[in-house]
Amino acid sequence: MTILTNAEVFVDGELRKLDIALEEDKIRALGRDLEGDEHIDCSGKLILPGVIDVHVHARDLKQSHKEDWESLGRAASAGGVTTVFAMPNTDPPLETVERVRDYRRRAQAATINTKIYGAITEANYKDLDKLALHVDAFKLYLGETTGHLIVSDKKLHREIFKSVTHTEKILTVHAQRGGDPTDVTRHETDDIRYVLDLAAAYETKLHIAHVTTQRAVEAILEAKKSKLDVSFETCPHYLYFTAKDRESRGAWLKMNPPLATEEDREFLWWALAEGLIDIVATDHAPHTIEEKSVGYEKAPAGVPGVEFTLPLLFDAVSADKLSLKRLVEVCCTHPARRFGLPKGEIVVGHDADLVVIDPEREKTITREAVQSKCGWSPYEGLTLRGWPVLVLVRGIRRNPPCAAPGDGRRS
Ligand code: DOR
Ligand code: ZN
Repeated sequence: MTILTNAEVFVDGELRKLDIALEEDKIRALGRDLEGDEHIDCSGKLILPGVIDVHVHARDLKQSHKEDWESLGRAASAGGVTTVFAMPNTDPPLETVERVRDYRRRAQAATINTKIYGAITEANYKDLDKLALHVDAFKLYLGETTGHLIVSDKKLHREIFKSVTHTEKILTVHAQRGGDPTDVTRHETDDIRYVLDLAAAYETKLHIAHVTTQRAVEAILEAKKSKLDVSFETCPHYLYFTAKDRESRGAWLKMNPPLATEEDREFLWWALAEGLIDIVATDHAPHTIEEKSVGYEKAPAGVPGVEFTLPLLFDAVSADKLSLKRLVEVCCTHPARRFGLPKGEIVVGHDADLVVIDPEREKTITREAVQSKCGWSPYEGLTLRGWPVLVLVRGIRRNPPCAAPGDGRRS
């Protein structure tokens, strides 16, 4: 048995001085002065559940120059992320059983837990029952973006919602038709209302990806009052940047949906602090420096983020902008509950997915430190306080690259 000692552990909504005993891949005991064969001294550190990022693009396959499972795993564990849900807009897309199975095999190269989305397309929507046996959730694109998986026919949407309900899987929707990226009111709220109505009609478990505006959040909160089975996420880039930043930084901040207004950004922070946002996910969308350097029109949409979300949000905790409780809810507990994983809380019997944080460590994000194969970050230059120094994935130690000598190597 391995014992993590002397840390402040996040349990039952607060930090407590406790030991954690790990055996094989599980948390076996929580308490004082636990006995074991091996002790890891975590003095001065905090221990949180590992982050579950329900929205990443792991690429690989024909886009392994942008990211592959190994580099994704490194980037994720550098950021305290122990589980990712990979999106299916790969090349080729994950729309058949064979491709999903192959992708799952390839995902073993990552040093983290991996979950796989299946794409719903015009080619496969009649066959979702079979695909459901191999995927962790389904993704439907109502808008055009990387991968061109858009389904626009409203008749098909109804069939799709009905079929997904039958599979009992979660349906995550990209509810944002294209449009003028400078028009921040856009179609987001209309599209979200449209899918909320479909979910109500067919009793579908709906998750709405990357919500960016106050109006859209309010539309979802309104729908939740009628007991819909719906959840939604926002992403760190909508908390950190606005359309104004895109005007100055161009393609580096090109993404779908596009950045919104300063009022929306402030609203998202407020909603986060109030506990109105279910999940923060990164929409980690790695494209290389070369690909992003060809001007706004031609550059692909998307920004990487998996390795900095926890430090970005933890820095907000250090600055008293967000409580640690909310951070753990949106990054760990809510994603685990929504997607049915025995993770996301530090309790006996759960998977030993843990992140040890040095709350005092300050570091500036630099391009050289980026672990993702894409090789850049929209957050370069930001100095943040509070970084992961040790990550455990089902009990196995993964040293984030920023770990100090000796951290996590005591065995
Ligand atoms: O900006 C984006 N990039 N939005 C998406 O929906 C897809 C993603 C990607 O795969 O590059
Ligand atoms: Zn995405």
